[in-house]
Amino acid sequence: MKFYYSNQSKNRLVVIPFCEDWELEDFQIINNYLPIDDEAYRSIYQIREFISSFGSVKKIFLNSNEYVFINIGKKEDINIETLRKYASLALGLAKSSFNSDFDVVLICKEFSIDLNDAVYSVIESLYLSDYTFEQFKSKNNRFKINSVSIISNQNIDNFRKIVDKAKIVSDSIYLARDLINSPANVVTIDYIEKIAKELAQSNSLEIKVFDNSSLLENGMNLIAAVGSGGPKPPRLIELIYNPPKFSKTVCLVGKGIVFDTGGVNLKPGNFMDDMKSDMAGAATTLAIIDSASKARLPVRIIGLIPLAENSVDANSYRTSDIIKSYKGKYVEIKNTDAEGRLILADALSYSDTKNPDVTIDFATLTGAAVVALGSKMVAGFFGDEELKKELLSAARFTNETIWELPLFEDYKEYLKSDVADLANIGNPAKEAGSIIGALFLQNFIDNKKWAHLDIAGPAYIAKDDFYFTKGATGVMIRTVLKYLENLR
Ligand code: BES
Ligand code: ZN
Ligand code: ZN
Repeated sequence: MKFYYSNQSKNRLVVIPFCEDWELEDFQIINNYLPIDDEAYRSIYQIREFISSFGSVKKIFLNSNEYVFINIGKKEDINIETLRKYASLALGLAKSSFNSDFDVVLICKEFSIDLNDAVYSVIESLYLSDYTFEQFKSKNNRFKINSVSIISNQNIDNFRKIVDKAKIVSDSIYLARDLINSPANVVTIDYIEKIAKELAQSNSLEIKVFDNSSLLENGMNLIAAVGSGGPKPPRLIELIYNPPKFSKTVCLVGKGIVFDTGGVNLKPGNFMDDMKSDMAGAATTLAIIDSASKARLPVRIIGLIPLAENSVDANSYRTSDIIKSYKGKYVEIKNTDAEGRLILADALSYSDTKNPDVTIDFATLTGAAVVALGSKMVAGFFGDEELKKELLSAARFTNETIWELPLFEDYKEYLKSDVADLANIGNPAKEAGSIIGALFLQNFIDNKKWAHLDIAGPAYIAKDDFYFTKGATGVMIRTVLKYLENLR
């Protein structure tokens, strides 16, 4: 997709925003770009009540051009997210009417939205909305968009830079979405290692891979145990982006279960259906490092990606097994389906040895997070107030909702084990599942500047939601990149 910026409409399809509570004279905000007369605006104005919901359209055909007016809501409600959604709708319209080149009229000054932010967000949304997962469809005849012209009467000086940045981030999100959407017979542990090595090569990153024997030598027995029944041996990948100038080091840890059958506690019914996506945390980590290094952000990033397949096999770990963690604590396995916290535990303890300023982990950790918060909210747990504030503020900008859940002290005792230092599930087992998962992890990390993001809900969704396309979303990539950008 190519992008242009202009103060005049030029394509046959022109997409134009309007507010449902605009008075007739308010339409002047857009009329200077468009060769259409007052009559057209009056016709929209007259049928207002029929197009009074977000996304409703009114099409006007004139001189073989098509002008599509999209309702973007009430004046006072318009924000940067409205513009992202508007861009996403515009792309859908262009595709369904087979216009490979089209105009998007952008208004932002009138809504007190910064022009650079608006242009960036619109381009990013267009890219992200255009994502499809079709690698495995032999016949692939989807209609492709060639170019989008953003039409505005405000001057912009760094348009190319903005386009490049949006492309970098979108490419990383495409990478993550492809990895998450691809099935586990394709995206194997070896495959993710190969991708990590390619990134290291192309982006000049340091990489270190702990294979199964070095996991055991180093005492990362939890990662080894979870992966012991898998078709490929488990491993831990360490990827370091080391910029010439930086003041902070951030460690990103991502759950990389390439498929989660539940293990000997086999998942019942259709609970296994989407478990190819249980490596979304790993993909998120790779994507953030990819973008941060390409955009040369001045922050050092250490990515830690524990990889395993949670399978059923004669060599699988089993319930009642007691395993010594990297930190030295003994863990009693009470449910092999609570495997994510085990591989993360070793990775988080290892992150402490790197003395980072901040550690953030991403994990499709608990079904309970989906039950509690659904598919549009990430459950966030914070060991530190400042980190919480910074992450929530970045999330507000990107409109990726993080909802805080507590690291509630009183529930720590739920993780007590009769025979080991702690159990991997709570007792009672059915209560506060996401909190228990987070509290388990807390036992393995000393760094107080730690955030645990349980992305089980939004990482993989059932239907399109504007620029969050169905299946893998890449949630948290944009937010954490924004957080890293703001970091001083
Ligand atoms: N990968 C799952 C969590 C999950 C469920 C992610 C649904 C996305 C959608 C995780 O490994 C798991 O199975 N967790 C168990 C924990 C339980 C055994 C304490 C769960 O949530 O049921
Ligand atoms: Zn599981
Ligand atoms: Zn899992």
